[in-house]
Amino acid sequence: MKKIMCIISVLMLSGGFYSGSAMAENAVVGDINGDGIFNSSDLNLVSDYVLGKIQFSENQYYSADINGDGRVDSFDLVAMRKELTVADAELPTGKYIGKSEKGIRRYNFFEGGGNYVDSSTGIGSAFAWEINGNNVTLHIGSADNTTNAVIEWTDENHFNLIWENGIIEKFSPESAELPTGKYISESEKGVRYYNFFEGGGNYVDSSTGIGSAFTWEINGNNVIVHIGSADNTTNAVIEWTDENNFNLIWEDGTVEKFSPTRVEVINGITYIDGILIANKSYGLRADYNPMGLTAETQKAFNEMSAAAEKDGLCLCVYSGFRSYSYQQQIYNNYVSAYGKETADTFSARAGHSEHQTGMAIDVNCADDSFEGTPEALWLAENSWKYGFIIRYPKGKQHITGYKYEPWHIRYLGKETAGKVYRSRLTLEEYLGIDSIYR
Ligand code: DAL
Ligand code: ZN
Repeated sequence: MKKIMCIISVLMLSGGFYSGSAMAENAVVGDINGDGIFNSSDLNLVSDYVLGKIQFSENQYYSADINGDGRVDSFDLVAMRKELTVADAELPTGKYIGKSEKGIRRYNFFEGGGNYVDSSTGIGSAFAWEINGNNVTLHIGSADNTTNAVIEWTDENHFNLIWENGIIEKFSPESAELPTGKYISESEKGVRYYNFFEGGGNYVDSSTGIGSAFTWEINGNNVIVHIGSADNTTNAVIEWTDENNFNLIWEDGTVEKFSPTRVEVINGITYIDGILIANKSYGLRADYNPMGLTAETQKAFNEMSAAAEKDGLCLCVYSGFRSYSYQQQIYNNYVSAYGKETADTFSARAGHSEHQTGMAIDVNCADDSFEGTPEALWLAENSWKYGFIIRYPKGKQHITGYKYEPWHIRYLGKETAGKVYRSRLTLEEYLGIDSIYR
């Protein structure tokens, strides 16, 4: 391009074929179609002109007379083609983030130009650009307002623009994807359960049950996390190791490894695919206390006992909600009486009883005499219609972790209870989880 500029300057000084004519002030040399850049479209126009297919305006004629001999002919076509076939570095297209001492800018590159917005001020500009080897000439606003840079690709997705004032602007594609959905993470900070939404998420520390909500934004591979308030930012780099797993490399150097999970912990309760779970594998926080049966559980039980009554049966709550400390007493008493190994076959350790969730009920009496009673048979056949399942079915101790308890029902809601009932599976099998103290 510099070469053409040079030829034209000489032409202007020496008075070419159209000397003194009104050449557009901001014309880019060789830019026949006036789109601000000299490229193959212009070459095609010159070719059409030479072939007599089109006419040129005075300005176009002047721009096309590359060799300055006062004529536009095949020699100019050859000269133009030669200019355009210089091996040019590739110019990016698409969305990029530029980082330099000027700050962070969001760019959108098209064929031949683009625009940018300064991310802190929201102010930006449009530009046209052209390339000559590794040299990029930008025209901001008008064609003669040019700025030069050298483009340097560091890998196939990243490049630098080294501006003529020495500033190096580093570009990364605005394409690193942020996850959505449930993830479990491991790092020196421990195990955390995350739930990512569009633009943010929340996490819970699995050992303390304490967590936080956050919003986040992405900048190339850089993730800016705002915890609590917008100016409380922490930075990380996101690194996808495959299409499902990623790392966050925090600014303090901690590497947090994320994998997708169906598990979510909210308020000390573990949900798997949205279903609350409390068993030997998944515990509850000691301070988790719904202060009784949940309203939904109580309502469903009332509905169910009314239906049973019509069938001439009486269902009552023998044991409903049990706090962490109450369960601890019960369990410890059983351990004293039967030893730990036996107690573990029928009594949950504190923090592992479904009764602490307020969604489990022992109906009428909690001992083996209940087995085979009309009430037990009625429950087995009908409780799913009211949203309950028999949680510890016969012969499934190796899966649920507990002996058969025909009296222990668990509220799941009508839809899920129906699905679990029809599956003939235990809740553990239905969810694909285990029930083991670790
Ligand atoms: N009996 C059941 C397993 C509990 O203690 O929660
Ligand atoms: Zn029970």
